[in-house]
Amino acid sequence: MAEKRGSSGRGQRDLKVKVKTARGRRLSSTRWLERQLNDPYVKRAKAEGYRGRAAFKILELDDKFRFLVPGARVVDLGCAPGGWCQVAVRRVNALGEKPGKAVGRVLGVDLQEVEPVPGAEIHQLDFLEDGADDKVKAWLGGKADVVMSDMAAASSGHKQTDHLRIVALCEAAAELAFDVLEEGGTFVAKVLAGGAEGGLQAILKQRFDKVANVKPPASRSESSEKFVVATGFRG
Ligand SMILES: C[S@@+](CC[C@H](N)C(=O)[O-])C[C@H]1O[C@@H](n2cnc3c(N)ncnc32)[C@H](O)[C@@H]1O
Repeated sequence: MAEKRGSSGRGQRDLKVKVKTARGRRLSSTRWLERQLNDPYVKRAKAEGYRGRAAFKILELDDKFRFLVPGARVVDLGCAPGGWCQVAVRRVNALGEKPGKAVGRVLGVDLQEVEPVPGAEIHQLDFLEDGADDKVKAWLGGKADVVMSDMAAASSGHKQTDHLRIVALCEAAAELAFDVLEEGGTFVAKVLAGGAEGGLQAILKQRFDKVANVKPPASRSESSEKFVVATGFRG
């Protein structure tokens, strides 16, 4: 897997692939297929050995905010299929591949089973179930430097419901971050633009030095997702 810091900019677009609507294939599926085939990040993910294009979102966020440093202890919530874990393992040196640099740790959780990611410890867990945060704290066994969440519930097709669900996931992730982050730590979470995220921002501003809203280039422009990056946890 080839990965260089600062190497996560937009890919080059090749000639556009057009997909014909086949009998039995819905128009929405044809559009999805066409988008996948023409997406430079999908191509780069394949070429660079990442499990999905989502890997480039955390690469771009980290290129900007520099929280995945060698030796960092990272909790990755909603980690399937494992792209963010792959990025974190490399950048925090979880496999000890960078001689002379501190060795970090990556702990991932997801509702779904995840194919093992070398260097990461992964658990299957519904993070919204009772006692989930205690389980994560027990697995962690101490403090973390980064809590990051790309959690998203399956789309209900109803924009406002999806939005409220993602805010609930974000708030649960923030609660864990408040409990386990080391002073100076970083919290990253996916939110959907839609209004209800204001409360979360206000809470984060009380506990972190800086709170930024970022739409990394790898996040599709037609998607309402964005990421909140809170740095400098004050405890
Ligand atoms: C966009 S995917 C994450 C992609 C991942 N960052 C990557 O790079 O491979 C969102 C994930 O959130 C997970 N998720 C949603 N709700 C969850 C919950 N309550 N507890 C744990 N994981 C959850 C889903 O199962 C899904 O795998």
